[in-house]
Amino acid sequence: MDKDKKYIMDTYARHDVLFDSGLGSTLYDKDGKPYIDFTSGIGVNSLGYGDKAWLAAITGQAEKLQHISNLYYTAPQIILAEKLTEAAGMKKAFFCNSGAEANEGAIKLARKYSFDKYGGNRADIITLKGSFHGRTITTLKATGQEKFHNYFFPFTEGFVYAEADNFEDFISKADNSVCAVILEGVQGEGGVCPLDIGYVQKVASYCVSNDILVIFDEVQTGVGRTGKNFCFEHFSVKPDIISVAKGLGAGLPIGAFLCNEKLEDILQPGQHGTTFGGNPVCTAGAVVVLDRVCNDAFLKSVTEKGRYIKEEVKSFNSPLVKDIRGKGLMIGIEIDGIAPKEIIGACLENGLAILSAGSNVLRFLPPLVISYEEIDKGLGILKKVLGMHA
Ligand SMILES: Cc1ncc(COP(=O)(O)O)c(C=O)c1O
Repeated sequence: MDKDKKYIMDTYARHDVLFDSGLGSTLYDKDGKPYIDFTSGIGVNSLGYGDKAWLAAITGQAEKLQHISNLYYTAPQIILAEKLTEAAGMKKAFFCNSGAEANEGAIKLARKYSFDKYGGNRADIITLKGSFHGRTITTLKATGQEKFHNYFFPFTEGFVYAEADNFEDFISKADNSVCAVILEGVQGEGGVCPLDIGYVQKVASYCVSNDILVIFDEVQTGVGRTGKNFCFEHFSVKPDIISVAKGLGAGLPIGAFLCNEKLEDILQPGQHGTTFGGNPVCTAGAVVVLDRVCNDAFLKSVTEKGRYIKEEVKSFNSPLVKDIRGKGLMIGIEIDGIAPKEIIGACLENGLAILSAGSNVLRFLPPLVISYEEIDKGLGILKKVLGMHA
């Protein structure tokens, strides 16, 4: 840990734990102490740790061919594209390496569509206050939180911020300079705040009438996390573009943006690309993820586990808990009277890893495969810690 401080830039407020291994949804530190994992690496390790089928797929692929340029075809990328587009009801995919890159690609695609059809003065994109879309210069500016718009000037132009769940505010900003809107069905980093269904439906139908593209940022919410293949399904709307990352790779870096038929031919050879994106090892693993997650029985289990966790936390009757919200296994517990980091630190000491979101929310993003036994152990620790601080 001293060498970490010496050799690695100090951009993360790391906790004092060095994790060494994991099994199921339990992590072990260097001394063998177990921790129930309600983080899954911020929504990444969807199949937990040591999943046999995923391991067989990635190691088998690494033995055969670990990487080849996107100038050639590889089977895992094609198989994944078919499964992913079908699961999302979309037409085509582009693979990259992270959520920010997926959003960058989605933004490029939206702007190119508008440029081809309307020329150069229709490039603005509406994003919502409280959103989070990534850490690149463009996606930081797309993020609707002022605290991210510092230091790194000049940022990319062309983002307009609208109040979440305020349709009047949206239409006041959706003038003829706007080509797209980006929505997170549940704002994750912003505090686990689900958007209102009526609001999203009104925005989507306004966008259809005005040829404004609807982009869903599904980086955190996608691939089963909310109990649906993709979170947009909760709103019964059809986006033009979605961005995906995190849980798709189950722990290996992969992202993607997907589009509908309207956009399938917008990006032509040479207009977008990546060295690593769609890597055969990552895509072979992601195929296993989709095979496991994208079916009714699995998605139902995610919904039920989420409901169980929410009900259990409610039954604690803790005076610190102000609100319990979220969808599926993306859960936010708004707390009052104590900073999330106090609770997170005490949970960690007692063997439970949890996250925060916004300034006053505890966030749970456990592996989608977490067992009820592990959930109960984790909630037992949370109950004890909340009791100690009440
Ligand atoms: C909704 C959303 N979009 C984009 C990102 C950025 O993803 P990445 O960190 O993989 O670049 C995140 C990461 O937390 C996210 O939650």
